[in-house]
Amino acid sequence: MREGEPGFECICDGILKNTPFVLDCMMQKIRARRWWFLKHGGTVMKETGEMGTTSDQDFYDKEPVGSLVAHANWMREIEFYFDAYAARLDNALIGTSGNAAELGAGSCGLSVCLSRLPSVKQVVALDISMVRMKRMIELSASVLDGNSKKITPIASDFNGRLPFADGELDVIVFDAALHHAQSMWRTLSECRRVLKKGGLLIAQREAYLSPYRAKWQINKLLRSPEVAANVSENIYLKEQYIYYLTVQGFDVEFMPRSKSSIKNILSLFNGTLYSDGVLYSRKK
Ligand SMILES: C[S@@+](CC[C@H](N)C(=O)[O-])C[C@H]1O[C@@H](n2cnc3c(N)ncnc32)[C@H](O)[C@@H]1O
Repeated sequence: MREGEPGFECICDGILKNTPFVLDCMMQKIRARRWWFLKHGGTVMKETGEMGTTSDQDFYDKEPVGSLVAHANWMREIEFYFDAYAARLDNALIGTSGNAAELGAGSCGLSVCLSRLPSVKQVVALDISMVRMKRMIELSASVLDGNSKKITPIASDFNGRLPFADGELDVIVFDAALHHAQSMWRTLSECRRVLKKGGLLIAQREAYLSPYRAKWQINKLLRSPEVAANVSENIYLKEQYIYYLTVQGFDVEFMPRSKSSIKNILSLFNGTLYSDGVLYSRKK
């Protein structure tokens, strides 16, 4: 962004009028520049017409880890959502083979949380970016004090056929990853195939559209570095997630949960005015 361009003027005006807005603009600039640096410092992004999502992989291969404090805070957030259903999941898995998979595992933070449950015997951490998982898994395991011996990272694309046999898994989890599916129908029908009857599919930390702020949220997404980098970003209403899961044969429950104090004050409206929580679903 240069002097004379509309965004530049908006920043200058904003400094005088509205500090939070200015900070937001500055963060957008920093993120956009970081993406430019990553793109021009390494492999040039490739387009792919097939199910492989090269630009998604490229982006996540190069996303920096961040500071130790930032990583620890991020892991605590993953754990916060996990704590909403950890005991319930552990109970539900008693008597099963305890086969779990995290799809879009990235930092493997949620895989590490799963590895702490006695009834989880093994976790496959699947991500399109093996680089990202290798970079972060040990750090995540040390912050969350999990059992990384239970975790097997594998590189795979959840837009295609999942590398599991029919009915092999007892639980599939997603942490801020399901919305990256290029087709919810395809990804969720694969999840259905590889889950046992009664198996669980849990999605936490999805960003939800609010019916009242959808235009603003979508415009924000359009300005994101992910969209600039051609990453498969989507954002859905809570009702749309429930719809996609229901048509694929899941019983779905939305468990409200939020770290935000404002959202917690407005907790009565979680699920209507805004949505924050966990999708806990069971294959019928
Ligand atoms: C926003 S991050 C989610 C956070 C992630 N749970 C973590 O802790 O790093 C999205 C993750 O999904 C992965 N991902 C995106 N598209 C994917 C795909 N088609 N198949 C597998 N993983 C994918 C990315 O590589 C990234 O690690």
